[in-house]
Amino acid sequence: MVNEVLFYLIGNDPGVYVDATVGLGGHTGAILGSLTSESRVLGIDLDGDALEFAREKLREYGERVTLVEGNFVDIPEILSRFGIEKVDGILFDLGLSSFQLASGRGFSYRSSSRLDMRFGGGARYSAYDVVNRFGERELSDIFYRFGEERFSRRIAKEIVTRREKAPIETSDELAKVVVSCVPGRVAVKSLSRVFQALRIFVNNELENLSVALSVLPDLLNPNGRICVISYHSLEDRIVKNRFKELISSGMFLALTKKPVSPGIFEVQANRRSRSAKLRCILRKE
Ligand SMILES: C[S@@+](CC[C@H](N)C(=O)[O-])C[C@H]1O[C@@H](n2cnc3c(N)ncnc32)[C@H](O)[C@@H]1O
Repeated sequence: MVNEVLFYLIGNDPGVYVDATVGLGGHTGAILGSLTSESRVLGIDLDGDALEFAREKLREYGERVTLVEGNFVDIPEILSRFGIEKVDGILFDLGLSSFQLASGRGFSYRSSSRLDMRFGGGARYSAYDVVNRFGERELSDIFYRFGEERFSRRIAKEIVTRREKAPIETSDELAKVVVSCVPGRVAVKSLSRVFQALRIFVNNELENLSVALSVLPDLLNPNGRICVISYHSLEDRIVKNRFKELISSGMFLALTKKPVSPGIFEVQANRRSRSAKLRCILRKE
């Protein structure tokens, strides 16, 4: 949703923009390309490997772009490190990138790689730790809470039984356990939900989003905007509720009355975009 993001995110120019989830730099490049040469972008990501790619890709923008390995909950401290007090736009494109999905860190149930699922440093546990060390009840809660998985208890029980024989080391080993205890017709859905739930838990994704949205609106200049692309109903609920609070404070305006979804051509080109929802607000004064 690059065009939609540019449409809603860009107001003040010259200005300072933050890409809170820079990934491979696709959005950052588009933002820089549509701003005048006095505007800057600070890009943040937890994933140092992705940032290396982004650094190469964005080289042509020279000092107009600064990339920082870090967590977006720390944006206030990161900005103050660079002597920046206020910004004109902040973009969140949540979740994981296709680069991470193919990175061999256990994000995908379609391939065999060590269960890790950490976006970057700072995570307390890897997916391996969770799957092999957490209790049955905790596992079932994670699958239910973050994946809304109907067979969460059955899957948790089976994991605990299997790991007594040998640790569950890789993504395909975990996938086999999940498939073995759910009906065949829902196997793919259960796999997506279990892997998604583990990833959300390992990276503390919902908590990070809530914390960031509680502190960042204060950092916006007048006419500054926050845009969030979410891929999961639990994320979207957090964004929707926080934006509602900000709008009822009288200081913010909704730029998107309803969440914006990708068009049919984008969904055809990238199936993972089909669940994307974009919401944006603007600071009035
Ligand atoms: C969907 S991708 C972003 C893709 C990016 N918009 C692009 O154009 O390439 C999401 C990115 O957010 C990063 N991420 C997730 N949670 C984060 C957090 N709390 N702080 C910083 N980066 C985070 C992930 O590491 C991942 O690279």
